[in-house]
Amino acid sequence: MRRCLFGLGLLLAGGLQAAPSLTLHATRSGPTDLAVTGKLAGVPAGESRYVRWTDLAALPTTKLTLDGEFVPGKQEVTVVFLADLWARLPVGPGADAVLATCTDGYASVFVDAFIRERRPFLILAINGQGPEKWPPPGLKFNPGPYVISVDNSVSPGVESLLDIGHKKPWGVATIEIASFQERFAALFTGRWAKPNAAAAEGREIWIHSCTSCHAGPVDTGTFGGTKGGRPFEVLVGHATHNPAYFRSYVRDPKGFASTAKMEPHPHYTDAQLDALIAFLSLPPKK
Ligand code: HEC
Repeated sequence: MRRCLFGLGLLLAGGLQAAPSLTLHATRSGPTDLAVTGKLAGVPAGESRYVRWTDLAALPTTKLTLDGEFVPGKQEVTVVFLADLWARLPVGPGADAVLATCTDGYASVFVDAFIRERRPFLILAINGQGPEKWPPPGLKFNPGPYVISVDNSVSPGVESLLDIGHKKPWGVATIEIASFQERFAALFTGRWAKPNAAAAEGREIWIHSCTSCHAGPVDTGTFGGTKGGRPFEVLVGHATHNPAYFRSYVRDPKGFASTAKMEPHPHYTDAQLDALIAFLSLPPKK
């Protein structure tokens, strides 16, 4: 009986304890630190803090077996779920998204519902080896310092979501703890305040796919990657004045230039391309 009560006491104490928080360092200790920025209590806006790999590895980790993630066949990865990382950061009021930026300018958006339901994770080790030993044998490109990914074994069906590759960024160096509405405000106001159903769907695709490489409207501070190199307004111009070119380019960039770096989207349906065009070509508000 006594033992039983003791057990219960431990359980309660455990349940009431807040998760121990991660130490945020003001300076970088090395290339495998993860930079954290955004809405962090006690951190002035615009400043970054650094989380060390060893501190991340001390959080509750999980081992997963992924198939073909980095090299063909099965590899075991050691991961921290983004939800657990979130719980150990001093997240400030209004924050509801993780925005990841990679060393090559690629970017990924993880909103809170996705973090909770689809359980994306930060990969800390591949076959027991941390990022200082990456790339793993057989892989030329170094996916470090961090990779975020998702897997069907964690969230059944997640890998069949549209363009799920955008939720598997390699080379993640910085995560921003952000308010989604703040960082995408420009796409929800003005001409985009009350989009029709097609334009609203196009906006979803834009945010969750195109944003990885293309920034939003100029001078609005909208989150987005830099790999695309083309201003948002140029894409708006194509969608508005030359939708046929826009469609073909998005489906098959190499059909226009063998040197095109943009990834092809042959899987997009006509309706999805229509939606993107509807979104980008909404006339400016008078
Ligand atoms: C992997 C990065 C990447 C992603 C993702 C991406 N793009 Fe691109 N995009 C580029 C790059 C780089 C260019 C510049 C030309 C090139 O190298 O292909 C480009 C060019 C374009 C162009 C042609 C612009 C011109 O001036 O001719 C259009 C249109 C375009 N992107 C639309 C989109 C849309 C819509 C999406 C989302 C469905 C998207 N892109 C997703 C990288 C990307």
